[in-house]
Amino acid sequence: MTLLVTGGAGYIGSHAVRALQKAGFKPVVLDNLVYGHRRIVEEVLDVPLVVGQLGERDLLNQVLRGEHPACGGEPVQAVLHFAAYAYVGESVQDPAKYYRNNLADSLTLLEALVEPVRTGTGPAIPIVFSSTCATYGIPDTVPISEDTPQRPINPYGRSKWMVEQLLTDFGEAYGLPSVIFRYFNAAGADPAGDLGEDHTPETHLIPLVLEALAGRRSGVEVYGDDYPTPDGTCIRDYIHVCDLADAHVLGLKLLLARGGQHVYNLGNGTGCSVQEVLDTARRVTQRELQVRIAPRRKGDPPVLVASAELARQELGWTPEFPDLATIIGQAWAWHQRDAQTLAP
Ligand SMILES: NC(=O)c1ccc[n+]([C@@H]2O[C@H](COP(=O)([O-])OP(=O)(O)OC[C@H]3O[C@@H](n4cnc5c(N)ncnc54)[C@H](O)[C@@H]3O)[C@@H](O)[C@H]2O)c1
Repeated sequence: MTLLVTGGAGYIGSHAVRALQKAGFKPVVLDNLVYGHRRIVEEVLDVPLVVGQLGERDLLNQVLRGEHPACGGEPVQAVLHFAAYAYVGESVQDPAKYYRNNLADSLTLLEALVEPVRTGTGPAIPIVFSSTCATYGIPDTVPISEDTPQRPINPYGRSKWMVEQLLTDFGEAYGLPSVIFRYFNAAGADPAGDLGEDHTPETHLIPLVLEALAGRRSGVEVYGDDYPTPDGTCIRDYIHVCDLADAHVLGLKLLLARGGQHVYNLGNGTGCSVQEVLDTARRVTQRELQVRIAPRRKGDPPVLVASAELARQELGWTPEFPDLATIIGQAWAWHQRDAQTLAP
């Protein structure tokens, strides 16, 4: 079965492509390569790559119908939609870029998926959508369950929240089947060592720490050590990227079997502080790390931890790599082996 993976040249999308291949699906990647890596798709994953912008409707139609030269002639039967820009700070500076890319391009995609319904030629094409814990904003209580009120506090989070609203409305109007996954902090790398996180610029804590430990940065900044947490630093829920990828296979199978509209948090349900990440990274790598304490950043909640019970119960999802040392160890192996050889 042919699947479209938007953003499949990126970090989480590339791991999902591999999980989908292992599950017997045939993924086709559509990516503008602004942040993704051609080499990963073409050489490591060896799947068809269509380079382009999701919002180009003609290109999208060609891919969905299997008429693009890269696609092998088969129409797409489901979509996994990872493509988005995800820099919170940039989204505050340049919201138009985020609403254009994350919201408007998603609307174009959803319109294409329900086109068969609107023209009376068939059912809508199911979609699995990458949403985020950023749609919750600063929650009143933790752990965060799916019915925690969503109050995103920046344009990135709002762009994702708005796509969620589109999915709800398109489900009601056109019967569009969807799974929304709200990820917490994706981390780690494929244990095989040939896929991993490589963002430019990098803003995520674990890769920043590993780059510093590898000598590619002078050190790391910790934004605030006076939060109301046991060691004063922020607590986040780090979930292994392969566990996220596996959840996508389960979510897709649910959609193909039962249709409907579903929302799941994806996290381990346990929090780790920034200080714990630093200590674990030092221990795993046996290296020294320069740390500078900087002021708090606006909009950083002290604690973000998921309740992912619903995904466990309904999808039968159990994270295979919940241990922080394992997550960091596998990310370190990737950094050592491959990160420097990546071309855009
Ligand atoms: N990394 C995390 O911790 C995290 C947490 C929550 C949610 N998410 C969401 O998960 C998804 C994947 O995140 P990631 O960390 O793998 O990001 P990423 O930047 O590594 O991957 C996204 C890919 O999509 C491509 N892309 C972006 N907009 C596009 C468009 N309009 N058309 C075509 N291609 C486009 C980029 O070039 C990139 O290759 C994103 O939607 C992100 O918002 C990520």
